[in-house]
Amino acid sequence: MTWPQISYVAEDHKGRIVGYVLAKIEEDAEEKGEPIHGHVNSISVLRSYRRLGLAKKLMLLSQEAMVSVYKAQYVSLHVRKSNKAAIGLYRDTLGFEVAQVEKKYYGDGEDALSMRLSLKDT
Ligand SMILES: CC(C)(COP(=O)(O)OP(=O)(O)OC[C@H]1O[C@@H](n2cnc3c(N)ncnc32)[C@H](O)[C@@H]1OP(=O)(O)O)[C@@H](O)C(=O)NCCC(=O)NCCS
Repeated sequence: MTWPQISYVAEDHKGRIVGYVLAKIEEDAEEKGEPIHGHVNSISVLRSYRRLGLAKKLMLLSQEAMVSVYKAQYVSLHVRKSNKAAIGLYRDTLGFEVAQVEKKYYGDGEDALSMRLSLKDT
């Protein structure tokens, strides 16, 4: 509700939601001496609609809006170390890099990769 411009849904031909990306802006970043940046909280595509490029499109729409609406300088996210599909999307398709590994980030003890993508040339 706070940053509606940077979250998107994908719909099928009947208007049913088959994918979404939910993102926020770290607005207090400037107070902490960090540049304004976006953060992707969650993205998912319905199983039968995967590998069609929907997640890539949702991410690009969100990233573009982060820059045009909020002048975000980069986007960050966390992903489970074991999530090969999501890591493929972020690193290979979108160009994210691993900023750091956060040990036992998730409740079940799994490590997270903290990833970042500069939006300066967007
Ligand atoms: C991760 C997820 C959102 C990807 O959605 P998608 O719409 O299938 O992704 P896209 O079709 O846009 O894929 C873009 C690229 O991501 C990579 N990718 C996607 N799925 C992959 C898989 N299963 N294995 C390896 N790479 C994969 C590929 O590089 C792919 O490009 P290509 O199809 O040209 O090879 C989807 O698998 C999903 O909903 N997973 C469950 C929820 C989840 O894990 N969310 C991320 C939490 S951080």
